[in-house]
Order: sequence, then structure tokens, then C-alpha cells
Amino acid sequence: MLFLIDSADLEGIKKCVEFFPIAGVTTNPTIISSANSDFKKLLYGIREIIGDDKMLHVQTTASEAEEIVREAEALKSLVGGNFYIKIPITEEGLKAIRICKSKGIGVTTTAIFTQQQALMASCAGADFVAPYINRLDNIVSDGVHVVEEIVELFKMQNMNTKVLAASFKTVEQVHKVSMTGAHSVTISPDLFSMLIYHPLTMYAIDAFDSDWESVYGNRKVSDLIK
Ligand code: E4P
Repeated sequence: MLFLIDSADLEGIKKCVEFFPIAGVTTNPTIISSANSDFKKLLYGIREIIGDDKMLHVQTTASEAEEIVREAEALKSLVGGNFYIKIPITEEGLKAIRICKSKGIGVTTTAIFTQQQALMASCAGADFVAPYINRLDNIVSDGVHVVEEIVELFKMQNMNTKVLAASFKTVEQVHKVSMTGAHSVTISPDLFSMLIYHPLTMYAIDAFDSDWESVYGNRKVSDLIK
């Protein structure tokens, strides 16, 4: 399972990279706009934090294939390293996926809401498809079920495309999606902390500390084995 950070907040990204097993960062125009800073500097900042090996997914704002490809080429040479252009699933987007792939540019097809959109993107050559879980749940659809069927479909049809599930609000959504066999998820820095939080864990650690202290005081394990 690959965990990616869905954010352009440099502090949040720094914290996640320090503590969690991170495979990369995803952004979209909304996420970039919420950082409200110089676009190029922001992308350089993210790349500097994550290094060249981790994936950086940046979304195009163009709607026509030729322009999408131009943006993809320019972004790839700007940010370098392990780069993916995020392209929304439209007719022009499908055309752009094929051209980008022929030029050796990694592609994530985004704004996926149905199984057939995912299959079409995969047939066009996308490396990842990004289905939007919480947005599906919000319209009384079932995001987890859609991901489940995409995963199954890719297996049945022998497709190489990976599922990069996106748009999460809860730990339960992440858990259920990971149970589908989805290859990767992209989540906010806050949700990373929530994924490992449990009050009983904190309770257990407090009890270990006070039991230890009652016998060894302030001395640590490292003090006792010198
Ligand atoms: C990531 O690729 C998506 O753009 C993102 O997860 C959408 O999330 P949202 O529904 O919280 O905006």
C-alpha cells in the first residue's frame, strides 16, 4: 500500500515525511490555491522536502489535449524527479493521456466517479486513476464500492493501472478502501495522525511510563545498559 499526502501545505508535508512512510504528494488546483503562494516556489518547496524519488502529482488546468500535454512537459521539467501529471477524465483528457504516455510522462487520471471512467483511463494508458471517495459518499453513493469494483475490474482485465484512492474525510473510509486491495491512497496530513491515534494506546504508554518510573525513577533504558 502506498500512502501519499494530499496537500500543498509545506509544514504539513514536512511533518508527514518525517514520521510516516510516505510515497509522494498529490495536489489539485483547489489545494494549490488554498496555499495562496507563488506556484513555482511552492512546487520547488514540495520537491525539496520529498526529494526526487518520491512521487509528485500536479494537476493540469488546461482543457484541450495539446495544451494539457504542453503543461505536462513544462511541469515535468520544472519539478523534475518522480513526476505525474494529473489529468481529469474528459475526452480531451483521454487524448492527452495517450500523448503524455508516448512522451514518457507519468499520468494520473483524476476526478474519477465511475468504474467505466477508470477502465477507459486505464485503457488509454494511465498509471494511476484517482476515484473520489468522500465526494461519492456525499451524494449517497458508495465510494468504497466503486473502488472495490475498479480494483476487481483491473485484475480481471489484466490492467497495469493502479488505483490511487482520493478524497477522504474519515479513518473508516481509508480502512475500508485499503480492504478492497486498492494500491494507494492520498490523504491530508491531519488524517495521517488520526490513522494511528487510539486512546488505549496512549493509556498503555502512560501506564508503562508510570510503572517504570515507580522502580527506576528518571533513569531510562539507555542509562541502565551503559
Ligand atoms: C486528489 O487527487 C483529489 O484531488 C482530492 O483528494 C480531492 O479531495 P476533496 O474531495 O477533499 O477535495
